Amino acid sequence: MSGLIPQDFIDDLIARADIVEVVGRRVQLKKAGREFKACCPFHDEKTPSFTVSPGKGFYHCFGCGAHGTAIGFLMEYDHMSFVEAIENLASSMGVEVPRSESDKPARRYDELFSLMDTVARHWQSCLKETPAAVDYLKDRGIDGSTAKRFSIGYAPDGWSNVLDKFGRSAEATERLLATGLIIRKDNGKHYDRFRDRIMFPIRDARGRTIGFGGRVMGDGEPKYLNSPETVLFHKGRELYGLYEARQALRHIEQLVVVEGYMDVVALARHGIDFGVATLGTATTSEQLNRLFRLTENVCFAFDGDRAGRQAAWRALENALPQIREGRQVRFVFLPEGHDPDSYVNEHGADTFVQLLENGSALSEFLIEELASQVDMQTVDGRARLAELARPLVSRIPAGVYRELLMESLAEAVGLSAAKLQKMVATGGKDTAPHTHHGKARAGRQRHSSGAGKPSVVRHAISIVLNHPEAAHKLDVGKLAGINRPGADLLQALIETVQNEPNITTAGLLERWRHDEQGRHLGKLAAIEVPVDEDFDPALELDECLAQLAQAGRKERIDFLIEKQRVTGLTDDEKSELRALTSGPRE
Ligand code: UTP
Ligand code: MN
Repeated sequence: MSGLIPQDFIDDLIARADIVEVVGRRVQLKKAGREFKACCPFHDEKTPSFTVSPGKGFYHCFGCGAHGTAIGFLMEYDHMSFVEAIENLASSMGVEVPRSESDKPARRYDELFSLMDTVARHWQSCLKETPAAVDYLKDRGIDGSTAKRFSIGYAPDGWSNVLDKFGRSAEATERLLATGLIIRKDNGKHYDRFRDRIMFPIRDARGRTIGFGGRVMGDGEPKYLNSPETVLFHKGRELYGLYEARQALRHIEQLVVVEGYMDVVALARHGIDFGVATLGTATTSEQLNRLFRLTENVCFAFDGDRAGRQAAWRALENALPQIREGRQVRFVFLPEGHDPDSYVNEHGADTFVQLLENGSALSEFLIEELASQVDMQTVDGRARLAELARPLVSRIPAGVYRELLMESLAEAVGLSAAKLQKMVATGGKDTAPHTHHGKARAGRQRHSSGAGKPSVVRHAISIVLNHPEAAHKLDVGKLAGINRPGADLLQALIETVQNEPNITTAGLLERWRHDEQGRHLGKLAAIEVPVDEDFDPALELDECLAQLAQAGRKERIDFLIEKQRVTGLTDDEKSELRALTSGPRE
């Protein structure tokens, strides 16, 4: 989703970019074998754990988990947007970025930003002229000055208000489309995305409007409509309210992460200027990175329901690699039926701040959550807790914080810290992975682990990423109908490599940059696949696929047998079952 820059241009640029040069121009690198090392520019450290791999075309920090390609590095280090990074990289390599329009790229982006700004201001003035919208905000406790501070507006009802006003030429329509303000129908006609909604502009670090969230005033669906991912707007990177918080505060002592637009605005209305919201997604490591660059003190204030606790758990998982001495991460769960917005309106700012101060430390929340999944009364249950904690603890960079967490854990499970330490270090007893929230699994990254575990998929993905050429002759057909986490991603990766045989590790990572799943790819690419003589990545991959196919077949058989027992089978299913059980097909 790179907008108007052709994908093959990006692939090619990434394949040819010299990551060592790009990073080396900004960070002092030392050669270490086939790679280069440095003290990580993204976190404080004394011994270098930041590694640049020229072969794979990407960097990775084993301390804080930061990783990416040359483009990613420019975005992170120089705070460039995706497009700015591409332009920068291209110009340093002396090539021009091709466009579908003859416009100069920089000018084009300025135009998109200024369009967003103009529309935001237009909607602000519409708000003033629409008593129903003003009343809605007033009813929700939002006064004029708060609305102004967040540039809240109103998009009037109708299919073509924005289109008619701002899309008078073909180029103008193209810009509306590129910023997601209008939608193209199959017949080529367009209509306004946002109709009859309260509009919340989302701004980047420099205060430029990059997207919108729009709320219905009544009970319509969806409650919030958001801008799609565009060249300007990447959901997983942005935090609603961060720009406004930085404007309001000279020194940011703490930031509180909440779930919704209205939470941020309501807190600000009550003088709590340090609220930010993720945009309806889990807190990504990229967002955490931004938070920690501004403050050492981050608090998550989520709803106390199941969904809120799950969102908090995801945030915890993503925060682990960035935990270190001095950084404080706390978790607060709002009482039943409340979110920060309703809570602060009912109880006031002081009570809310009090609530934040009484939040659970990350270690407390971690232990509490895990303890709720085991029977703490039994020795077995406590051993299991230690087992569940192991993969989590190992993601925290070694240091004082990790030691302290180990001590708390040891206390919770009734072991000595030394003994627990040993368990964590050695991987404990080799038991089957346990599921957590049915999602994260305490699986180990093991060479060719048994079929049926997600680690086979992960392992296969990391081989494709590390050795794209190994996938050239693979039979993706083997993956058809395999229904396990990541299998579709694996298939898509293999297909991409087969369509573009010259694509590199970094090229693949860039392809998935804007994808929800893309966040995991960097980590998988960083896993060292063995390089010993007799390791044949193509063979290994083939083996993984065979294992998956085998496991998939077995699952299907089990399913059909169960179905036969319960409801009976259709004729098609009967013959499918016969074919499946009449012996292996390979
Ligand atoms: P909530 O449903 O908790 O909404 O969604 P809220 O912020 O409390 O909204 P109000 O108080 O009813 O106005 C939290 C966040 O999830 C995203 C939005 O970012 C929202 O602020 N969301 C929610 C969507 O993107 N779409 C939806 O339909 C609902
Ligand atoms: Mn709410």
